[in-house]
Amino acid sequence: MKLEETLKAHGQEHLLNTKGLSEEEKREYFSRLESIDWNTVELWKNPEDLSGKGEIVPIEGLTVQEIEKRKEEFKKVGIEAIRAGKVAAVLLAGGQGTRLGSSSPKGMYDIGVTHSLYIFEQLIHNMFDVVNACGGTFFPLFIMTSDKNDQETRAFFEEKNYFGYDKNYVRFFVQDMAPSVDFNGKLLLEGKGKLALSPNGNGGWYSSLHRTNIESEFPNVEWLNVFAVDNVLQRIADPVFVGATLESGKLCGAKVVRKAEPREKVGVLCLEDGQPSVIEYYELTDEMANAKGPDGYLAYSFGVILNYLFNRKRLVEIANARIPVHVVKKKVPYLNEKGELVKPEVENGYKFETLVVDMVRLMGSCLPFEVKREHEFAPIKNKTGVDSVESARELLTLNGVKL
Ligand code: UD1
Repeated sequence: MKLEETLKAHGQEHLLNTKGLSEEEKREYFSRLESIDWNTVELWKNPEDLSGKGEIVPIEGLTVQEIEKRKEEFKKVGIEAIRAGKVAAVLLAGGQGTRLGSSSPKGMYDIGVTHSLYIFEQLIHNMFDVVNACGGTFFPLFIMTSDKNDQETRAFFEEKNYFGYDKNYVRFFVQDMAPSVDFNGKLLLEGKGKLALSPNGNGGWYSSLHRTNIESEFPNVEWLNVFAVDNVLQRIADPVFVGATLESGKLCGAKVVRKAEPREKVGVLCLEDGQPSVIEYYELTDEMANAKGPDGYLAYSFGVILNYLFNRKRLVEIANARIPVHVVKKKVPYLNEKGELVKPEVENGYKFETLVVDMVRLMGSCLPFEVKREHEFAPIKNKTGVDSVESARELLTLNGVKL
């Protein structure tokens, strides 16, 4: 079908206006329009019906006490795997970090007090703990960026000399972008001949990585440790976690903390129709959030901290599986009929996102691995208050980091 007919068939005639565009701009614009995944865009019609959750029950996992007893055994297995080049880390840093009120990549945020300490820097320090525990063996770090922050992120690492990490082990890759629609399903423009595009959620990390030749550069890698940029206490390629997951025979491991309160903004690991699965905090019903287990504590108490170990072979197998697309209400800057850019104060459209939490289910098996939140979970989501720069500073200090 010709592009014009396709756009009409999807009620998107407004995109045909190319007045004022040069031939070159037109070509680029049309090629972008040609690549639209209409199956995804059409999902705006039934946004709340997407996750299709099955029967949910609590899951059992390795507790802090159990891990403590077998720590040395797990650690040995983990260190061996890392030294053999079997483990790589994947830093998800494609998000926009708008909640911090900075337009720069979140990892460039300076959390220091008496001296500078960038989020990226602290994460690299955490990686060095493992490099040192492995007798100086560096392990690969793949950093996912997006079109919005790729160049700035790369330039920052270069400028800071990778904070001492061996740059031969660092690679960057760019995640895909997805279009946004208004509440009537019309694709939004952010400029003349420019669709309003944003990063397509953190669930697309493997399909984006898989398209590059990064994996073939590191053929020995069997496990990928995926983690978020915002948790400055994040243990990366933690040998104990690696060892425990390998010993469990499961295809994935997920670090979890006991939830601080029923409505804490963390995804909850549970069993869905007998399979390990994560329910995001905004999908959790009040009944589930408050349900009590036999020990009197929350039944759904395993909050994921976005630190997963994924088996690479299994990732390859599921690379083409259709991961659920979440339709999320957002404030999307757009061009109005008069051709002016509007920055809305309230939500005005939908974005389409895939989430890494949905990969847990696709993996087929998962080891919940409980960690102590005060040692491993200091997410920076906001400027002040809960999960903020302030709370992260307190936790870093508690863990002996000089600020
Ligand atoms: C996330 C987790 C949630 C977990 C919580 C712990 C997901 C979907 N949710 O929630 O289960 O309990 O962290 O703090 O994983 N990112 C990209 N590209 C994108 C969007 C995000 O790389 O398109 C990255 C961000 O840079 C960040 C991470 O993904 O490193 C988490 O994203 P965010 O949207 O902040 O997730 P939360 O809602 O905090």
